[in-house]
Amino acid sequence: MTEIEPEKLAQSFGGLGELFLPGQAQTPILSKPVRSALHQWLFEINAADELASVGLKPRTRCLLSGPPGCGKTTLAHHICARLGIPILVVQSTEIIGTYLGESGQRLNKLFKSVRRQAIEIGLFFDEFDALAKSRADLGSSGADNERTNITIALLQEFDRYDGLLFAATNQAQIIDPAIWRRFNMQIEIGLPGAEERFAIVKLYLAPFDADDETVAILATAFDGASPALIREGCEAIKRALVLGPKIGLDIDLPAILSRFVASASPAEGQPIPALWQDRRGAFNAAAKAPWPPTLPQKA
Ligand SMILES: Nc1ncnc2c1ncn2[C@@H]1O[C@H](COP(=O)(O)OP(=O)(O)OP(=O)(O)O)[C@@H](O)[C@H]1O
Ligand SMILES: [Mg+2]
Repeated sequence: MTEIEPEKLAQSFGGLGELFLPGQAQTPILSKPVRSALHQWLFEINAADELASVGLKPRTRCLLSGPPGCGKTTLAHHICARLGIPILVVQSTEIIGTYLGESGQRLNKLFKSVRRQAIEIGLFFDEFDALAKSRADLGSSGADNERTNITIALLQEFDRYDGLLFAATNQAQIIDPAIWRRFNMQIEIGLPGAEERFAIVKLYLAPFDADDETVAILATAFDGASPALIREGCEAIKRALVLGPKIGLDIDLPAILSRFVASASPAEGQPIPALWQDRRGAFNAAAKAPWPPTLPQKA
């Protein structure tokens, strides 16, 4: 790959989108079926020649759906990083204009600038439902006409573009069916199951080395929570462990969790996680966890 000059590259998309480089990517923790689907996808992207021998091309368009904070953006960035390419994250609000035809022009400018690059980049549309809402749900107001124009412009641009394309939505059910069909992968990233929550708690409690029994108790308390909320919880625990003793805060696990539930809430419209639903049960379980975790000795 050509050497990337980040600032120069970031300026070359006409002020649209935010560019993230491969080195800044995180690895999301995902369910086994999603992991193996992605594994196959990465493999096929790297085996384009073999696929060509049977008249096939690697799939390049992936629609990610699921609740907020479960890793849609993280995953798209991770896939691009695995392929060694930057990702341009475009918010739908950057595309939607106020004048008739303005949004289509912005889309055209965006795709042109991406096609013009000497290096490959991944293109990611966030809050995609705002751009590609089903035309069947639109009326005849000026704003709705513009929405219809956006969908038509998207269809045209997609058909001319063969680079890597991602879109993410929390509302897969309202995406226009013609746009939906243009994606050759549709991956739903739901709330993490027990095994994934265990791995997420362990990941975000690091560098603290918590006992597996403690990690399992926390993973149960976070049943129903998104990875983003679990991360917040783990960071609250780490902050309390580091600063608590200095300012006289109780650093028993139930006390830390109790302060956390009082100061954080799951996203609006999302399931209520166990820790919020049955605080007493979660605090009782936490009281039995081996505590506090240790920090590895500095060399
Ligand atoms: N599956 C995951 N594994 C590990 N960490 C995760 C995962 N999902 C989310 N996170 C953490 O939560 C943060 C927010 O996640 P991300 O922005 O990828 O979610 P999203 O699904 O794109 O949410 P939204 O719908 O709000 O855009 C990430 O930066 C990461 O720290
Ligand atoms: Mg996102």
